[in-house]
Amino acid sequence: MKVLITGTSKGIGKAIAEKFLSRGHEVIGMDILPATIEAPNYSHIKTDIFSGELPEIAGVEILVNNAGVQDSGRDIDVNLKGTIRVSEKYAFQDKIKSVLFIASSSARTGAEFPEYAASKGGMVAYMKNAALRVAKYGATANSLSPGGVKTALNERVMSNPVLWGKIMDETLLPKWAEPQEIAEWAYFVTVVNRSMTAQDLLIDNGEDAKANFIW
Ligand SMILES: NC(=O)c1ccc[n+]([C@@H]2O[C@H](COP(=O)([O-])OP(=O)(O)OC[C@H]3O[C@@H](n4cnc5c(N)ncnc54)[C@H](O)[C@@H]3O)[C@@H](O)[C@H]2O)c1
Repeated sequence: MKVLITGTSKGIGKAIAEKFLSRGHEVIGMDILPATIEAPNYSHIKTDIFSGELPEIAGVEILVNNAGVQDSGRDIDVNLKGTIRVSEKYAFQDKIKSVLFIASSSARTGAEFPEYAASKGGMVAYMKNAALRVAKYGATANSLSPGGVKTALNERVMSNPVLWGKIMDETLLPKWAEPQEIAEWAYFVTVVNRSMTAQDLLIDNGEDAKANFIW
């Protein structure tokens, strides 16, 4: 299938691109940074999803909106407006089979940075709007809301043993996900899944669920 993924130069987006490539799909990556993947079925578009040029790409079958920033002063622009811009350009056409959004557990909890949480909450609402509009093509639209994932985005706390210990105390399964696990979810939700749509999946190692019974 023809798969367009944003934010493929690092982290979760790179892992998702590698997952699709390993299954023989054609992957078009879009990132503000140069390509870091070299593979016969991979092509790269270097652009800013919010303000850069979005080239014509016919017949995208799977769109994964992954590119994002955190506490950047541009969180609403990139995470929300950029994602909407990319989706409006490529998703609503008759070849589309699935649209996926990488949101965040902060969309549900409101925790983390204010504009980041708002951008991801908006993304989940937009995902539902997209699901209503791609249904006529027989396509699904869903989002993944990861808790902590081990990427460069979180270097600050991952490299600080005291902060890391506090985070683990807040996490029911005391660990964070690897980007490759999020890639497995992305593949399942967009390719294997044909019946779930307009849903947001929380993948947070039980951080949101953790509750202490005081008696
Ligand atoms: N890492 C986590 O703990 C975590 C948790 C929940 C959600 N997320 C979300 O997952 C997505 C990927 O995060 P990550 O941890 O892999 O981050 P990352 O910083 O490692 O990778 C993000 C990628 O997006 C690209 N990008 C940033 N702004 C862009 C723009 N304007 N145009 C095009 N590309 C742009 C970056 O260059 C980079 O390659 C983000 O949307 C993030 O909010 C991450």
